Amino acid sequence: MIIVANWKAYVEDLEKAKKLVALAKKYARTSPHTIVIAPSAPFVGALAQKNSSHITFAAQDVSATLGGPQTAENTAPMYATLGVAYAIVGHSERRAMGDTNDIVAEKMLHAVAHKITPILCVGEHARDPEGRYLSFLREEITSALAPLAPKDRAKVIIAYEPLWAIGKTADQAIHATDLAEMVLYIHKILAELLPGKSSSRSLILYGGSVEPENIREIAATSRIDGFLIGHASVNETTFTQLLQHIS
Ligand code: PGA
Repeated sequence: MIIVANWKAYVEDLEKAKKLVALAKKYARTSPHTIVIAPSAPFVGALAQKNSSHITFAAQDVSATLGGPQTAENTAPMYATLGVAYAIVGHSERRAMGDTNDIVAEKMLHAVAHKITPILCVGEHARDPEGRYLSFLREEITSALAPLAPKDRAKVIIAYEPLWAIGKTADQAIHATDLAEMVLYIHKILAELLPGKSSSRSLILYGGSVEPENIREIAATSRIDGFLIGHASVNETTFTQLLQHIS
C-alpha cells in the first residue's frame, strides 16, 4: 500500500517536522508499504534534499505555471530538482481556493512532464439521491486525465476524498462497503480513459478522516491501494498507530 501523510499546514515547526520524518523513516525500514510524506513547500526544501532513506516525499501542490515572473509559485522543476517523487494535485482545499478543473489539468501536465507522479484528488461535496455526485466525480477525473498522453494517464494515482468526510473523525469517514463501490466506479472510468488494460494497474487511495480506529477495516474490505491521511498523520502517537495497524 501507499501511505501518504498530507501535513497540510498543520506542521509549522521544523523540529516537529524532523521528528515525524524520523518516525516515518524508522517504520519504512521494515514496512511492506510505501511511506510518502507531503510537507509544506518550505519544509520539502528542508527535508527532501539528499534523501536516501526508504521514505519518499510529495509536494502538496504544484504550480500551474512554469518559471518566470511568477511570485510565490512553486513549480514542478523546483520540486523535481529536490528529488520529490509525487505531487498532490487538485486537493479540495486548493480547489476551494480557486483551482478549477482546467487549472488542475495544467498542474497535472507540468507534474508528469517533470517525472513527478500526480496524486489526483477527487471527491464530491455531498451525496444526492439522484446520483449526480457520480457524474461530478467522472468529470473531475476525465478533465484532469484527458490532456495527458495515454502512457502518462496510466501513471496517475487517484485519491478519492469525499469532502463530507475530510477533517472529521473515524466514525464520520466513509463506510468500507461504500468505498468498495466507489473504487469499482473509479476503475470503470479509468478503463475508458486508459489504453488497453492498463487501468487495472492504476492505484486508488482513500482520504477523509482516516484514523487509527478505522484504517484496518478500510484497508481490509475496500480494495484500495493506500491512504491519503491528514490530521492523524501529524501527531506522533496517531501516526505510529496508523502505521502499526496496517503492518
Ligand atoms: P483528514 O484529511 O485525514 O484530516 O480528513 C485528509 C485530506 O484532506 O487529505
